Parts: sequence; C-alpha cells; structure tokens
Amino acid sequence: MESVSSQSNIEAWEYNPSDEDQRLPHKYPSNRPVALRHIHELGVLTWKLDVNNWENNSVLNKIKEDRGYNYSEVATVAREVMEDFESKVQDYFQEHMHSQEEIRLILDGAGFWDIRDYDDSWIRFRVERGDLVVLPPGMCHRFTLDVNDYIKALLLYTELPSRTQHERDEDSAARKLYVEKVLNPLAIHNKITAS
Ligand code: LAC
Ligand code: NI
Repeated sequence: MESVSSQSNIEAWEYNPSDEDQRLPHKYPSNRPVALRHIHELGVLTWKLDVNNWENNSVLNKIKEDRGYNYSEVATVAREVMEDFESKVQDYFQEHMHSQEEIRLILDGAGFWDIRDYDDSWIRFRVERGDLVVLPPGMCHRFTLDVNDYIKALLLYTELPSRTQHERDEDSAARKLYVEKVLNPLAIHNKITAS
C-alpha cells in the first residue's frame, strides 16, 4: 500500500551566475522562484516516492512498466568510492544533452540540476531522497552535488545503460525535436502572453 502521495515538492529557482562554488545554491539575493509547473512545461517529469523499500514500490514499478524502463543500476557519487571524483563532478557540470531520457531516482544524498529555459537562461532545482526526475531527450542540462558531496541514485533506462553525454548539438535529432516540440511553442506562447 502506498500511503505517501507521489506528488513532487521539488524547489526550483532562477540560477544566479555568481562565481560562488557550483555546490552552493546560486540563488539571487532575493530568491526568484520558478514554479514546478514551468519545469513540467519544459518537459521534465517529477514524482516523490517512498524509497525505504524502493525495489517493491508499486508506484515506481508502475512507472517503469508504463514508460518501458527495462534497465537500471544504482550509482553512488562520493569521494570515498571514486578515484576520479573531482573530474567526474566537473564532467557532470559541463552543459550537455542526451538522445535518451535521463531518469534518476534519488535514494540518498542531494544535488542540483540546472536546465535551460526556453530563453536559454538556467533554472536550478534541488533533488534529494525520494525525488524521481525524468529529463526529456534533447534538453540541455548539467548536474552538481551540493556541499555534502554525496548522492546515491537509481539510474533507469529504456535501452541498455548508457550515460553518454553529448555536447549541445542543435543538429541532433533529439535536440531538433525538443526545440521544435517544446522550446519554440513555449517561447511563442510566452511572448504572446507577455504583450
Ligand atoms: C548525467 C547527469 C550528470 O548525465 O546529467 O548523468
Ligand atoms: Ni545528463
């Protein structure tokens, strides 16, 4: 039985590009919140799950079945378990995109994703234990740990596990589709509604 609602309560805000450490929140002095609805409009899917017994979580199993997530692996990013910790942390923070969805269920620890808005500004959101996040193919993003330098996540895939990061490539099929179906309509909609 699921007693916990799977409604997400992720916090998002406009990323302040100050020169503070990437692991700090990068909020503006007066925070500029971004509605979770807007994250969803950009094509990100979010759920909050009870991960105490995630292998048997019926909500997760239903999502896996509905969305065809047939492969998974558990990954920990922490200094103690990685020889190349610092370089990996830098790699994750390079803007990139994937031709498949990026699907992560946070089992422990925390981190931040930065995603590009339709006007190319960065939006940051925080994830922690229980957050399930799906980034759409072709969305430009980057990831960082927070100051605790620790995250453990279940990585899900529709196809064989691949964590290939592609540089931003406006010519890739996934990027073209994402720009055409999601970013351009949002840009048009927001210009029309702003005037
Ligand atoms: C990934 C995160 C770092 O691609 O975006 O695994
Ligand atoms: Ni990625």
